[in-house]
Amino acid sequence: MADNKAILKAGDAEIELPILSGVAGNDVIDIRTLGSSGYFTYDPGFMATGSCESSITFIDGAKGVLLHRGYSIEELARDADYLEVCYMLLHDKTPNSEEYKAFKDTITRHTLVHDQVNNFFRGFRRDAHPMAMLCGTVGAMSSFYHDDLDITDPEQRLRSAYRLVAKMPTLVAMCYKYNIGQPFVYPRNDLTYAENFLNMMFSVPAEDYKITPAVSKAVDRIFTLHADHEQNASTSTVRLAGSSGANPYACIAAGVASLWGPAHGGANEACLTMLQEIGSVDRIPEFIARAKDKADPFRLMGFGHRVYKNFDPRATVMRESCHEVLSELNIDDPLLNVAMELEKIALSDPYFAEKKLFPNVDFYSGIILKAIGIPTNMFTCIFALARTVGWVSHWHEMLSQPGQKIGRPRQLYTGEAKRPYNKIDK
Ligand code: CMC
Repeated sequence: MADNKAILKAGDAEIELPILSGVAGNDVIDIRTLGSSGYFTYDPGFMATGSCESSITFIDGAKGVLLHRGYSIEELARDADYLEVCYMLLHDKTPNSEEYKAFKDTITRHTLVHDQVNNFFRGFRRDAHPMAMLCGTVGAMSSFYHDDLDITDPEQRLRSAYRLVAKMPTLVAMCYKYNIGQPFVYPRNDLTYAENFLNMMFSVPAEDYKITPAVSKAVDRIFTLHADHEQNASTSTVRLAGSSGANPYACIAAGVASLWGPAHGGANEACLTMLQEIGSVDRIPEFIARAKDKADPFRLMGFGHRVYKNFDPRATVMRESCHEVLSELNIDDPLLNVAMELEKIALSDPYFAEKKLFPNVDFYSGIILKAIGIPTNMFTCIFALARTVGWVSHWHEMLSQPGQKIGRPRQLYTGEAKRPYNKIDK
């Protein structure tokens, strides 16, 4: 490596590749010209691959740093609210108070979904997983906003982004109401973003939902802490789908699908399911032993992270909110006792310390959501609601970059070499 160049020896060839530096984080070897030398790189799971250039979010996993547009997540979770964070993710600057009010007003006035959307829900089984319904209905939004949409126009891209941020809570609450057989509750413009969501989830025609400030604050914080997370699986999925010029609502539906899995956004649901399986504090050692057993595929859900190898800064803030909500609501739920005891035991166990496995944000957000009465199968939908702004910010950024290309990775082929085809008798 010399003069910001990497020299790669491949067979007899010596290939010189430029090294690029960002504002922070690892330098990257620019391999864009490598293909012409007859080689590709191989990195399943993108363990060491930067897939794009971005100015939205920075993570230093070793130091537990998460910055949105340069602002630390701890400060944002403490002093900003979710809509402010949405504004800065989309606009690359913090809003002044006029801009904040105008943005809040725009989002508030776009929360209604087209009445035809109600009909989509009728097509689902009552017991369909809410993520299945969310995936379908977010994708279906593309049928309402497609023909007149010009994704090369930044103004129109932002309009799509506002619609998505505004309508996701409505769609998520509809998924819940449909599951439990209650009528859909329309959005209310006199409530904050988090309050409106809680109201659409828990109000019924016969009785209004009573807002508890500690609960709406915790929900706003859950949204803030999940707003964006750099090039994670679902965001990369949205970018890849969007790189072909696809409709933004369809791209966000792809993000919802990618988020669903238990190794990503499904972790808080999987965590609660695991707590139910553990059932009581005395069974925790048995599950800790299983988590350590190489022959057992069981993992402690809500523990560990691909990027954060010392602590998850979001978990630190979420833990605070978790304890606040539990004491405010004065809840005595045996499952929550199991969670708190599991946290204690795992944090003091040398196996978890050595492998740098600690509770991640989803461990605590799952406990909060459970405490406020949100059923486990809705957890990932709430993550999707919050992450929508991150997805659409990345989509918007990608399409604004000059020379944007369709994402098209290569492969290491391990199938049969060319062979003759023998016709069969039909
Ligand atoms: N319980 C027990 N052992 C674990 C766990 C766990 N939760 N996570 C990792 N390990 C062990 C794993 O067995 C491996 O051991 P060894 O070195 O002996 O083979 C070692 O730790 C490294 O694991 P890995 O799978 O190579 O690590 P990764 O970086 O590929 O995986 C992860 C990260 C999040 C997928 C994983 O920790 C996991 O499956 N955690 C549980 C699911 C979870 O909570 N996911 C939510 C992440 S936060 C939300 C988000 O940002 O999407």
